[in-house]
Amino acid sequence: MKKKSTHTTLIFITLIIISLLVSKSKGDARTEIIEMKCDEGVHNNSTLFVANFIRATEITTNEMQTSHFSTAVVGTGPNTNYLLTQCYEDLSSQDCMLCYAQIRTYFPTCFPHSGGRIYLDGCFMRLQNYSFFEEYTSPNDTTICGNTTRKGALFQESTSRAVANAVTNALSNGDYFARGEMLVMGTNDTVYVLAECWKTLSPSSCRACLENASISITKCSSWSEGRVLNAGCFMRYSDTNFLNPMPATSRASHRGSYDAEEMAKNLKDISLNFKYSTIEKATGNWDESNKLGQGGFGTVYKGVLSDGREIAVKRLFYNNKFRAADFYNEVNMISSVEHKNLVRLLGCSCSGPESILVYEYLPNMSLDLFIFDETKGRDLSWDKRLKIIIGIAEGLVYLHENTTTRIIHRDIKASNILLDLRFRPKIADFGLARSFPVDKSHVSTVIAGTLGYMAPEYLAHGQLTEKADVYSFGVLLLEVVTGVANNTSKSTEHNDSLVSTVST
Ligand SMILES: *[C@@H]1O[C@H](CO)[C@@H](O)[C@H](O)[C@H]1NC(C)=O
Ligand SMILES: *[C@@H]1O[C@H](CO)[C@@H](O)[C@H](O)[C@H]1NC(C)=O
Ligand SMILES: *[C@@H]1O[C@H](CO)[C@@H](O)[C@H](O)[C@H]1NC(C)=O
Ligand SMILES: *[C@@H]1O[C@H](CO)[C@@H](O)[C@H](O)[C@H]1NC(C)=O
Ligand SMILES: *[C@@H]1O[C@H](CO)[C@@H](O)[C@H](O)[C@H]1NC(C)=O
Ligand SMILES: *[C@@H]1O[C@H](CO)[C@@H](O)[C@H](O)[C@H]1NC(C)=O
Ligand SMILES: *[C@@H]1O[C@H](CO)[C@@H](O)[C@H](O)[C@H]1NC(C)=O
Ligand SMILES: *[C@@H]1O[C@H](CO)[C@@H](O)[C@H](O)[C@H]1NC(C)=O
Ligand SMILES: *[C@@H]1O[C@H](CO)[C@@H](O)[C@H](O)[C@H]1NC(C)=O
Ligand SMILES: *[C@@H]1O[C@H](CO)[C@@H](O)[C@H](O)[C@H]1NC(C)=O
Ligand SMILES: *[C@@H]1O[C@H](CO)[C@@H](O)[C@H](O)[C@H]1NC(C)=O
Ligand SMILES: *[C@@H]1O[C@H](CO)[C@@H](O)[C@H](O)[C@H]1NC(C)=O
Repeated sequence: MKKKSTHTTLIFITLIIISLLVSKSKGDARTEIIEMKCDEGVHNNSTLFVANFIRATEITTNEMQTSHFSTAVVGTGPNTNYLLTQCYEDLSSQDCMLCYAQIRTYFPTCFPHSGGRIYLDGCFMRLQNYSFFEEYTSPNDTTICGNTTRKGALFQESTSRAVANAVTNALSNGDYFARGEMLVMGTNDTVYVLAECWKTLSPSSCRACLENASISITKCSSWSEGRVLNAGCFMRYSDTNFLNPMPATSRASHRGSYDAEEMAKNLKDISLNFKYSTIEKATGNWDESNKLGQGGFGTVYKGVLSDGREIAVKRLFYNNKFRAADFYNEVNMISSVEHKNLVRLLGCSCSGPESILVYEYLPNMSLDLFIFDETKGRDLSWDKRLKIIIGIAEGLVYLHENTTTRIIHRDIKASNILLDLRFRPKIADFGLARSFPVDKSHVSTVIAGTLGYMAPEYLAHGQLTEKADVYSFGVLLLEVVTGVANNTSKSTEHNDSLVSTVST
């Protein structure tokens, strides 16, 4: 592990230098380390722990390419990895990736301890073997004062007003982020403030965390700078401007003043936007009897619109509005994807209290209900099975080989293949799959490369996930042919029961 992490660090440093050279960004990724705390407890099993950690960072690395925030939960029992990472919202996407890449390499230094938190000035990361996502204060919270320059009463007064404003703004704009600057009357000084909660918190926890921080930070008030590092939030003020300039693009205009209705206008087609009340009514107020199932990203309900149309409604787990911009982009993209073997996304409810996706409803349910059931399986002749396999392959090819966007599903399995009335297959649940431009920017290459100890082909091409789809399709194909469920773990893929069954 020691050796591996040194190796990773070297690769990483090289990539950072390269990316700094090619970077045109004028922003500051603020990669200075403020605090790193490793827990005392030691992991339970190094083999499992390391494998889970690599998988968890792979997930967050993917997500951080398009988002300022990501969580991952990998593994079971005492070796479970709960990982959260977040960039402060004033960083550009490029700087966020740099900060993430940096913080990511610090973590292995906590090994063999099973968890820890790291605060950089531009981003945060925490790993534990339990779900800490809702924690907002802890005995380990610290306040760090920049103790080089003393400040007078006028500065203190402006600081406390700027901090109070930031707390209010972070909660009112739905982004859990606020930046502020305030002139100090009678002096040439300005105070700059940043406040941000982790996006996993509820609004009331975010409020409690920032209110706690705003009191803690008064400890520093006679100094020119202060930072509070809480379990659920970060706060900083300074007399020097550490904030990145407000981006001028419309993509970023919601930062600091996010408005859901405004975002909804960006939907290509307003008809994609379902009112929350419409959805609520269609599902009978989320009636249990309408529940169709539980997926990786949320719970699915059946709904009937007032015009009689049947819909499938997916209620996403992380339903804060935090990733609204990404969510809308995703909806725009996916709603333009149309193929006979893909479940059609009808739209979303994005400006209500939760993030909801609305799909076409397929009454015949999913493939797993047929192939693993002897009685129902008889309905599926070989001819039908072949057509199903070909249909799935066509859907996947469409997703993978599109010239404008390449979509990787990441979760191909029997229960994600829905069947229409004539048993034609439709791939479902690609709503949260990541899409990548076909020719990647240098930055995403850098990020792929930071995974020093990932599979070599992933390092070289960043295409692990696409291959994963093909691999999953292979497993699914065997399942369709044999009617035997894949219950063995992937780590024994070369000798699992399914493969043996096929060969006999
Ligand atoms: C506080 O920190 C110590 C060591 O730094 C760690 O063992 C402990 O688990 C932490 N507690 C919480 C609640 O994070
Ligand atoms: C790992 O955890 C399991 C279950 O909690 C326990 O039985 C086992 O002794 C632990 N192993 C080590 C090396 O701590
Ligand atoms: C760790 O887990 C792996 C996989 O379950 C197991 O083969 C190995 O024996 C475990 N190691 C220890 C020290 O318990
Ligand atoms: C987390 O790891 C520590 C140290 O191995 C262990 O004592 C603790 O029981 C684990 N927690 C959970 C929830 O498994
Ligand atoms: C902030 O939270 C910490 C940890 O729970 C607590 O010790 C401290 O007293 C709180 N501070 C205030 C001002 O509430
Ligand atoms: C400033 O803080 C650092 C670290 O907390 C400490 O080592 C140093 O002595 C402090 N300097 C002054 C002038 O208080
Ligand atoms: C403000 O700046 C000006 C010009 O730099 C200087 O002359 C003046 O003394 C400063 N005022 C205070 C209150 O520091
Ligand atoms: C690629 O996907 C876009 C939507 O993202 C769609 O409009 C276009 O028709 C697709 N092109 C091909 C060749 O499948
Ligand atoms: C699937 O659709 C066919 C044709 O409408 C119907 O006969 C069959 O009962 C349906 N199966 C299920 C499980 O709903
Ligand atoms: C096969 O089973 C393993 C373990 O249950 C699971 O993790 C994996 O997703 C399954 N693969 C497919 C393609 O269903
Ligand atoms: C294997 O998967 C099937 C279908 O998902 C499920 O019904 C069965 O209980 C699983 N068996 C085991 C041993 O997990
Ligand atoms: C494959 O599995 C069989 C029985 O399940 C076992 O006897 C054999 O040793 C395994 N082969 C390998 C290479 O692990």
